[in-house]
Amino acid sequence: EKGGYDYFMLKEIAEQPKAVADTLLGRIDGSGTLSLDEVRIPDGVLREVDKVVIVACGTAFHAGLIAKYAIEHWTRIPCEVELASEFRYRDPILDQQTLVVAISQSGETMDTLMALRHAREQGAHVLAICNTNGSTIPRESDAVLYTHAGPEIAVASTKAFLTQLIACYLVALYLAQVRGTKWADEIRAVVRDLASISGAVERVLETMGPVRELARSLAGKNTVLFLGRHVGYPVALEGALKLKELAYMHAEGFAAGELKHGPIALIEQDLPVVVVVPSPRGRSVLHDKIVSNIQEIRARGARTIVIAEEGDEAVVPYADHLVRIPATPVLLQPLVATVPLQVFACELATARGNEVDQPRNLAKSVTVE
Ligand code: F6R
Repeated sequence: EKGGYDYFMLKEIAEQPKAVADTLLGRIDGSGTLSLDEVRIPDGVLREVDKVVIVACGTAFHAGLIAKYAIEHWTRIPCEVELASEFRYRDPILDQQTLVVAISQSGETMDTLMALRHAREQGAHVLAICNTNGSTIPRESDAVLYTHAGPEIAVASTKAFLTQLIACYLVALYLAQVRGTKWADEIRAVVRDLASISGAVERVLETMGPVRELARSLAGKNTVLFLGRHVGYPVALEGALKLKELAYMHAEGFAAGELKHGPIALIEQDLPVVVVVPSPRGRSVLHDKIVSNIQEIRARGARTIVIAEEGDEAVVPYADHLVRIPATPVLLQPLVATVPLQVFACELATARGNEVDQPRNLAKSVTVE
């Protein structure tokens, strides 16, 4: 049932191109128009939405953090992302014009369920993004957009995360379509690029040999840091979470711009630091800033593991290890940038002799608050 793989996690990492393609299937027609039939919230209501609030936990929360960039950029609707476990305890401001998006692979996470119940009590409309048909969270929501990742067995979430991202992009694009947007051309281009994104994920998977080798060489380390900016920041958080849960290593993700506000004090000789580099196209200012960050930490002895787009030559002199990912539109980069981090964590866990599919102290779905 592991399809020839040693672990479910490896199988599920490998299934990502298909999971991504399946989640897009039938939702964008040949002319680039989105039809999300399952989202039964009337277009009239979606046109009136004045705030989007995303609630989720763990990896699903990281998908939400990335969704915020897409939703705000394409729709200009303010979007908050909150840990579901914190949400209802701060008396959040919600009304009929709030769209709450609850993201959950299992559909049974109690923290997320309690958050959405609270939102509905306040009159907000709740849309679930979920991977499990008929589970509690979609049943209690006004509408559901299913991710089609197929069953995810390994405790650490991989393919569900990529499909949550796809679902979030679809929601953002759909809101933009319903409401009209000044980014119409960009959106058409993104919809076009989504069609080839599954192939891009496949290409990343084909080049993971050196990442595995690198991971094995780091098995004796205690700490790994992850840096990113813009949508690369949640990717850094996700890379760190994967490493904690699988390799039981101290791992932290930072926004690279925060380095100088404290974390740079952690840099010491031979400390592995993974840097997710934004595209040099698009927001090129950010790209240049992160290149100087890489220079700074390397000058202080860090061992830099750089994840950068094909053709990005500016990073080459400062990368102790360079991992190439295909060029994508800026907002879609997490779909390809996360994959090497999953492989990295899985391989490190194996090298350290850990149980990959069943990390200690963790359960696949957390049904207590
Ligand atoms: C991390 C992981 C957890 C889940 C979190 C939410 O690899 O699996 O952080 O993402 O417990 O679970 P769901 O998505 O089922 O609500």
